[in-house]
Amino acid sequence: MKVILAFTLFLIVALVAAEAQSSKGADLIIARCSGCHGWASDYDSLMASGGIVPGKPGSSIVWTMISSGSMPRGGPAFTSKERRLVYDWIAAGAPRPAQ
Ligand code: HEC
Repeated sequence: MKVILAFTLFLIVALVAAEAQSSKGADLIIARCSGCHGWASDYDSLMASGGIVPGKPGSSIVWTMISSGSMPRGGPAFTSKERRLVYDWIAAGAPRPAQ
């Protein structure tokens, strides 16, 4: 019984962590790009901009700009870990971040 309880608890924690992780990419884009781009001010405008193609990082101009280091302009480029978060978020279908 204790084992099952511990395992269930582990599953819940893992799921919550994965959920939080999966939207980090969106948070990063909003935090780092909105200063200059109105379309990056929130999730809805980001998705409406067409710069993100859910499930297809390679077709997403936002990913092209970040992965090539072209953007954010004038600021530090995304680290490889941050790039991975953005890539994974788009590849996962660009889910809406939990509030
Ligand atoms: C300091 C201001 C600044 C920041 C921060 C910035 N950009 Fe830009 N961005 C620009 C300027 C200026 C242009 C237009 C000039 C050009 O295309 O060379 C541009 C152009 C673009 C374009 C081409 C289409 C368009 O909207 O004009 C994309 C896509 C883009 N940026 C994505 C991003 C992303 C993604 C981020 C965050 C990682 C970001 N930018 C952060 C200044 C910025």
